[in-house]
Amino acid sequence: RSMRATHSLPPTLNSVTEHDLAHFAKILPPSSIISTFPPSSVSSEELEQYNNDWMGKYRGTSTTVLKPKTTEQVSEIVKWCNERRIGIVPQGGNTGLVGGSVPLRDELILSLSNMSKVRSFDPVSGILVADAGCILQSLTDYVAPYNHIMPIDLGAKGSCQIGGNVATNAGGLRLLRYGSLHGTVLGLEVVLPDGTILDQLTTLRKDNTGYDLKQLFIGAEGTLGVITGVSILTPPAPQASNNVILALPSFKNVLPLYEIVKRQLSEILSAFEFIDRTSYDLAVKHGQGRALSDEDVQGAECFVLVETSGGRREHDEEKLADLLEFLLEAEEPLINTGVLSQSPAQFSSLWALREGVTEAVAKEGKPYKYDISVPLSSFQDVVDGTREHLRSKGLLGDHAVKYVVGYGHVGDGNLHLNVVANSYTPEIQNALEPYIYEVVASHRGSVSAEHGIGAMKTHALHYSKSDVSIAWMKKIKEIFDPRGIMNPGKVLE
Ligand code: FAD
Ligand code: MLT
Ligand code: ZN
Repeated sequence: RSMRATHSLPPTLNSVTEHDLAHFAKILPPSSIISTFPPSSVSSEELEQYNNDWMGKYRGTSTTVLKPKTTEQVSEIVKWCNERRIGIVPQGGNTGLVGGSVPLRDELILSLSNMSKVRSFDPVSGILVADAGCILQSLTDYVAPYNHIMPIDLGAKGSCQIGGNVATNAGGLRLLRYGSLHGTVLGLEVVLPDGTILDQLTTLRKDNTGYDLKQLFIGAEGTLGVITGVSILTPPAPQASNNVILALPSFKNVLPLYEIVKRQLSEILSAFEFIDRTSYDLAVKHGQGRALSDEDVQGAECFVLVETSGGRREHDEEKLADLLEFLLEAEEPLINTGVLSQSPAQFSSLWALREGVTEAVAKEGKPYKYDISVPLSSFQDVVDGTREHLRSKGLLGDHAVKYVVGYGHVGDGNLHLNVVANSYTPEIQNALEPYIYEVVASHRGSVSAEHGIGAMKTHALHYSKSDVSIAWMKKIKEIFDPRGIMNPGKVLE
């Protein structure tokens, strides 16, 4: 069962009509228009992939998808929609996890997937300028021969687009090392809601000339404009990367372990990721990475994946080996064991155990995904507390919720709390909310660490943002988008 958003769209918005299609047909070639209206006249089934989100949780009823190739085409489409008061949902790879990338009703879907050209790359500075629709993996492949990497990496890399990453301010697996997109994005080209092209596609590292407008679009989830181009700083590729998976007897060892790992690995530490035992078991069950031996996982309550990236292999390997020795030979060891990757294939396989949890929980059932920032010391209590809460409501078990799992970016204080159910039901939804948001607020945490607000959490924004902050966010939205056409009903109620 898919969720229909409970909140409504501004009543002033209009649906796309045949008349609008005739206009779009003057801007775009037939191959860039998918619509139930003539001259395209496809069946509504052909629009399903655009109307449904990655989880199968949110579903819109758009009649029309437009796939412009150029910024000018985007500008003309947006200008028309603004005049006609037609809601627009910018869509990248449609991998978002908060229902932001699909319409609430029948808004027009503006897909960036045809805007997929690299505009320039400077191998000396590492600055890459690309169309917003470039797929993250393709950009990684593009800069690899120049010995550079993208500053962001995430499990959805094969489908998500750089514009979508910027629009959601995606965090991912490298944030610990390379920081957030607020730092690595140097410039943006954005089509504003009235069709104006805002060209801030600078390739300067330093530019203190007044307000930094681009920051507003990073994490705005398409509510302030359509990102069409991105200028981003790519770091040099590390000469050596290693990883090790550590099996821990108890969650309470994670924090002291993190302190030791940071101290001993210092500048070569590039990831410190956490999966609890149930996440691990589900990843293995659904074929994500190769299972560790029975001996290695025996008595493990959770696992930590540590990655190093450095300049000299022997140096890094020595540091990692010293760390493992130190951990295993301690009087009261924090870990049961550590499995060090010995080959590129094993390196990928260890990563797959962590990155593959998202796919595994989606294969196992219908995941309710909570992406929260809470103090690291509370991660396990939040997961256990949620499980007990569901049990007390009679909702734990094969008939309702199968698993409550925790995984995430320990180094960033970001816990992914997933409740894996048989189906999405109002009973489970009501048991989870506001319960989880109140727990987050009691820790002064964030209801969205990295996935965004989308349609899922508009009603929960106030748990993490003050009334004054929300009022100013609304004022900013009103200035950019007075007609409320850009991704209506998302982020702000
Ligand atoms: P979409 O899903 O298409 O869109 C997301 C939002 O951005 C929507 O609100 C949309 O309207 C807007 N948008 C998209 N493109 C544009 C544009 N050009 N201009 C303006 N607005 C736009 N997220 C993390 O932060 N960290 C992770 O580690 C992570 N891992 C993931 C792993 C998997 C397997 C999956 C499925 C998702 C994961 N995500 C993660 C979620 C994450 O938000 C997305 O994967 C990604 O950043 C979204 O990119 P996209 O191109 O798919 O955008
Ligand atoms: C992750 O860290 O794996 C992603 O944010 C996706 C998810 O939360 O499942
Ligand atoms: Zn994540």
